[in-house]
Amino acid sequence: MATTPFTAPRPASYAPIPRPLKRKTAPSEIPPGPRSPLLTLKFQRDTPGFLRTARDEFGDLASFFLGGQLFYGAFAPEMVHEVTVSKQHSFIKGVGFDRMRKVLGTGLLTNEEPIHLRHRRLMQSPFHISKISSYAETMLALTEKHISNWRAGSDVELGPEMMSLTFDIVAEILFGTDISKDTERVQRSMHIAIDRIERTMLPGLDRMDSWPIPYFKKFHTAADDLNDVASKIIRTRIERGIKRDDLLGILLEATTPEGERLSAEEISDETLTLILSGHETTANVLTWAFAYLSEYPKYWEQLAIEAEEVLAHRGEDDFASHLFRAPIASTIFSEVLRLCPPVWVAPRRALEDVELGGRFVPKGAHVLVSQFVTQRDPRYFDNPDKFIPERWQGDFEKSLPKGAYFPFGAGTRKCLGDQFALLEGRIIILEIARRFRLALKDGFPKAQPRATYRPKGSVAMKVSAARRDL
Ligand code: HEM
Repeated sequence: MATTPFTAPRPASYAPIPRPLKRKTAPSEIPPGPRSPLLTLKFQRDTPGFLRTARDEFGDLASFFLGGQLFYGAFAPEMVHEVTVSKQHSFIKGVGFDRMRKVLGTGLLTNEEPIHLRHRRLMQSPFHISKISSYAETMLALTEKHISNWRAGSDVELGPEMMSLTFDIVAEILFGTDISKDTERVQRSMHIAIDRIERTMLPGLDRMDSWPIPYFKKFHTAADDLNDVASKIIRTRIERGIKRDDLLGILLEATTPEGERLSAEEISDETLTLILSGHETTANVLTWAFAYLSEYPKYWEQLAIEAEEVLAHRGEDDFASHLFRAPIASTIFSEVLRLCPPVWVAPRRALEDVELGGRFVPKGAHVLVSQFVTQRDPRYFDNPDKFIPERWQGDFEKSLPKGAYFPFGAGTRKCLGDQFALLEGRIIILEIARRFRLALKDGFPKAQPRATYRPKGSVAMKVSAARRDL
């Protein structure tokens, strides 16, 4: 039987996973942290809230046991910077990623060295800023197409709308394929996969994936289904003999310095990784952004004025640079990424003994850094739970210590698509604000943090016309 990502073993060239530290093998002195017998329940029920309370009660480095294994929450910006940048080689990706590999295979997001950097170098060119700028027209055209059937007075389910829009954008730009027929299928399978992935924040649960019970069987089926979509994209390109210099074209032609080509499985895994990491995250942040705009309607008018100015540069060579500079859309996007970071936790595993903020963390420990917790730290962000886009005006971001704001991660594992997402986010916010106003029908959505920080439910919105259209 062919190996699928779900059944593939961990690649032999990865660093061996260090033994976990149990209560008996943990160092005698570990930092304080939550020790309640209900800890696992609290962690599972609201992981971001659990981590935030741990920081509030126990400080920048807290320890706790989950599934009998030692975890550290490292919350100070200095520690975040060490884990993601200056000491990144002391860590591999941690809990959740083995489970994610069952869905995404060995793509960039889940790969470890030495494979990761080799692939990252091969895949960088479509994400170069000069190339990203050339995508602006397509992003805008697809946004126009998607909202062309919105009518003042009607309702939209914003979550699914943003998912299908960002999916079509990534599919068209990176893979040159109209796979809108598959949007629903991808969304259904991805919803299941993302829901199940989060559960393995509890170590050891992944052993249950082979159990013959519907909850886990559905996870397996969803992973295989997504793998099928990726294979179909590649097959279509090869069978039709299409040559394009988009990401898929690059992957199909790529040769390593040793003259090796990527295998069909590697190309398929990278394709799936880009489709998933390239649309789910952006769709969630946009859905949150419109939920905040509904709560803070004063920004609609400012955005609409900005949209008229910026979108008037459409067709000009420097269209993208106008979009990148758009101050209202930029500050709103930065603030939503702070409050609702789609990637809200980065689990790592210490490969060796290491110091974080000058404090000892032993080999084998699980280390969690969290965008959600650190980006709501009142030492760096006044009124941390409040939506205040104006805080990003001027040099605020530059004034922050390294590691205080990291919605796209940092170091060699930093998001490959950050500029792609920033451009796309501005275009979608501006174009929608130019045409419409959206108002939440059922109150501000609750969060449903899974592998991504997603709003719960489909987020129904009432559509009305932008004032200038009245
Ligand atoms: C607002 C939208 C997005 C956010 C907040 C985001 C955030 C992140 C973060 C935090 C990581 C690092 C994860 C870790 O350290 O464990 C990451 C990795 C990655 N992202 Fe994004 N992302 C977004 C959009 C995108 C888009 C649009 C693409 C592609 C089109 C993309 C592709 C990737 C890839 C390939 C990686 C793995 C990079 C590597 O390890 O070399 N992301 N993303």
